[in-house]
Amino acid sequence: MKIPDDVRKDIPLTIEVIYFDNTATSLTPKPVIEAMDDYYLRYRANVHRGVHRLSQMATHKYEESRKIVADFINAEFGEIVFTKNTSESLNLVALGLENLFRPGDKIVTTPYEHHSDLLPWQRLARRKGLKLEFIEGDNEGNLDLSDAERKIKDAKLVAVQHVSNVLGVVHEVEELGKMAKEEGAIFVVDAAQSAGHMEVDVRKLHVDFLAFSGHKGPMGPTGIGVLYLNSGFFDVFEPPLIGGGTIEDVSPDGYRLTEPPERFEAGTPNIGGAIGLAAGIRYIQRIGLKGIERQERKLVKRTVEGLDELEIPWYGPGNLKKHAGVVSFNIPPLHPHDVAAVLDDHGIMVRSGHHCALPVMKKLGINGTVRASFHVYNSLEEVEAFLGVLEELVRNLR
Ligand code: ALA
Repeated sequence: MKIPDDVRKDIPLTIEVIYFDNTATSLTPKPVIEAMDDYYLRYRANVHRGVHRLSQMATHKYEESRKIVADFINAEFGEIVFTKNTSESLNLVALGLENLFRPGDKIVTTPYEHHSDLLPWQRLARRKGLKLEFIEGDNEGNLDLSDAERKIKDAKLVAVQHVSNVLGVVHEVEELGKMAKEEGAIFVVDAAQSAGHMEVDVRKLHVDFLAFSGHKGPMGPTGIGVLYLNSGFFDVFEPPLIGGGTIEDVSPDGYRLTEPPERFEAGTPNIGGAIGLAAGIRYIQRIGLKGIERQERKLVKRTVEGLDELEIPWYGPGNLKKHAGVVSFNIPPLHPHDVAAVLDDHGIMVRSGHHCALPVMKKLGINGTVRASFHVYNSLEEVEAFLGVLEELVRNLR
């Protein structure tokens, strides 16, 4: 596929607006909508619960979607659990592992986490009397790997984001995973901002648990997320939710749970969402992850160059090799929301505020940022239009 032109043709909204809010959620290509339509119009039925042909077809498509997700991150079929989103997946990890922790055990994370990869660990630490430690890092988002090595020693669990939703920094998850495994720690990765934007391989990254949402990088619908759970944890991970679909046998005085992944998916799942997510992944695979990454890097390079030309301070790693498709900046003394409103007046969608990462804001000593975040359908022409609006804004201000 020709990047970005062929992708833009599949997404009518790209003609109407400049959409730079892909970190929050991405736009939906037609093949994803068609796959979901197909389910709702042609074989709408529940899964694992009927012998009739529609239920058989829905079950087949739902499980085929699981296989597509598994292959996408180099996992086994049974290691993929469908959830609602990244936040739910990470909460489930903290709840399901709770019984493995003893008072004084240590959880290590980074200062850059989204609230969804911080609050579940803070709560777990409070409930079980655990220590929560943060790997040192600078204001660009670069982690101090020697400090990581020191802190990961004796850690019971290490939880890190792959890519920051504020700074765009790509962390050294493979190295951190190796450190965690050498120390026998459980390694958890929040891949909300990497899946669908770059390669995510759970084996290469030494991951035990990994979470991502369908509606961001993979261009799927909202309401569907993924929890990867390494098969080595099947017997010790306590399913936080049980009920319909999770059992082998039940009697009035007890139950026996079924095998994973059904053991971890209580109740009717988001069937249409899983099918849409699989269609998104297939679409991403047709474009090619390498091409997606290349396009986003090109857009980041021009964006930060343009911001430098306008003397607008931006955040994130100066080393662009470590900078994924997210650029945060500020135009003091304007509030980030005011800058976002001006951009909206020109048909440009960005997010402003603390981006659900208040500890990052506190570390940088700011209340918020304006954030432009890209996907493969964004173009250099759009970046130029965006910089043009900022230039006018800055000229009127100074
Ligand atoms: N976590 C999403 C964002 O950064 C919602 O915008």
